[in-house]
Amino acid sequence: MSADGVVRLYFNRPEKLNALSTPMVEQLESHLDDIAANADIRLVVLSGTGGRAFIAGADIAEYQGNRHAQFIAYQLQSRRVFDKLEALPQPTIAAVQGYALGGGFELALCCDILVCARSARLGLPEAKLGLSPGGGGTQRLLRAVGRHAAADVMLAGRYLYGERAYQLGLASVFCEDADFDSAVQGHVQALLSMAPLAQTQIKRLMRLGQDCSLPGALSLEQEVLFRLYGTEDGQEGIDAFLQKRAPRFQGR
Ligand code: COA
Repeated sequence: MSADGVVRLYFNRPEKLNALSTPMVEQLESHLDDIAANADIRLVVLSGTGGRAFIAGADIAEYQGNRHAQFIAYQLQSRRVFDKLEALPQPTIAAVQGYALGGGFELALCCDILVCARSARLGLPEAKLGLSPGGGGTQRLLRAVGRHAAADVMLAGRYLYGERAYQLGLASVFCEDADFDSAVQGHVQALLSMAPLAQTQIKRLMRLGQDCSLPGALSLEQEVLFRLYGTEDGQEGIDAFLQKRAPRFQGR
């Protein structure tokens, strides 16, 4: 963790385009458990190393040989880990350069913000392997971009390039590869400038609201706001605005 509370997680297997092996998923789960329990962590950035890929999907070599029990165990573990990433209280950024395929795209879909370089290629090509996505792709991509854009990615195996992901509203930021690091850093700073308790609650509301009726979700929204108004950060944000100064949020 850096001094400002930012954790950077790197998928570091560039010779295999950062394909997700079982040990990588296990390590990711352990990091996510630690992050969820650490209130000093303000946000998490996920990146691939090597410049060619975020993650090119699950490690297909592990799938060979029709080893059913092992395959199912991997899928169940991935499901659990992806859900944990989505449920983290802190904001998350997927910083995507190059390929984000299969489980790589699905991990990015569990993050709050996608920063995509021009080189980004997001895809769910499982049908090319005779399989279907198993890390939430059919559902999270559908909800993110709608049926027809999602169908093109999954049924025709088409990649969403960085610019297209931005046009579809999937990526919050689109930039040239040369500007990638500064674009990611710019978003980190934007996220750090907001009140952490408010961010956690807003994340929670968006998640819960998706599975609630509208009236129920609207009531929940107001309950959260009433509580935040009573926090030190709520009063600090209002005072700082009126005093024309930057707020100093304490997470209380
Ligand atoms: N699992 C295991 N190994 C993978 C991988 C994956 N998902 N994706 C890439 N690799 C490996 C390649 O086998 C290759 O290893 P090698 O050098 O030992 O042969 C290395 O990474 C580089 O990939 P390569 O295919 O040579 O690069 P490329 O530029 O020609 O093609 C891709 C890049 C991403 C188009 C291609 O690697 C690919 O289609 N990967 C699989 C993507 C996929 O189906 N993901 C979903 C999995 S469920």
